[in-house]
Amino acid sequence: MVAVSHPAQSDASTTDALHTCIALLSTVHGYRDGYTVEHEDRVTMLAVGIGTQLGFGAPRLAILRMAAIVHDIGKIAIPAEIIGKSGAYTDAEYALMKGHCLVSYNILSRLNTTWPIAEIAYQHHERLDGSGYPRGLFGSDILLEARILAVADVYDAMTSVRPYRPGLPRDFVLGELHQMAGHLLDPDAVDACRNIALRNLSTAPENPATAWLRPKMSGRQCT
Ligand SMILES: [Fe+2]
Ligand SMILES: [Fe+2]
Repeated sequence: MVAVSHPAQSDASTTDALHTCIALLSTVHGYRDGYTVEHEDRVTMLAVGIGTQLGFGAPRLAILRMAAIVHDIGKIAIPAEIIGKSGAYTDAEYALMKGHCLVSYNILSRLNTTWPIAEIAYQHHERLDGSGYPRGLFGSDILLEARILAVADVYDAMTSVRPYRPGLPRDFVLGELHQMAGHLLDPDAVDACRNIALRNLSTAPENPATAWLRPKMSGRQCT
């Protein structure tokens, strides 16, 4: 288990420096892979909405927001031709793709913070029944923040246009999430996601302390 400390435990200058680092990482990644960064932005809004519905206070939402914005930063280490591939991955390519969680962790663990930003990103493909990756964590060994991120990540991945298929309909995706709730995905987070999607609340309430972290997307090009 990873202890979660809160922003209130650090001074303002450290928090500002951390925000700057996160925004920098997202901006750099956007020039390399605008498609993934736009995905991270949508996931962030949904994850913060889910966290809000689950009763997170502002400090915990700030950590969740920062982790979500850069959760796929590790894809920066994957060749662009694999990221944008329209056909099925080979085993070797899939193994490389799965490695992005560890690369995200390795990058984000360099941040000067005790907040579990790196750990949340590391865990975002873990599943409750241990079938996820990279470590096959089970149930509550997965941080709640990572379980929320997983739901938002799956919802966005399924509803978005992918190189190999169009986006899937909202109601179909919500049905799929319902099937995954309890054994793969956190059921409370799935319920909150459903509430948000059905009410079309794709934009979570902005947290003034971290709203500026949302990168400006204008001018970014998908690779
Ligand atoms: Fe990912
Ligand atoms: Fe993702």
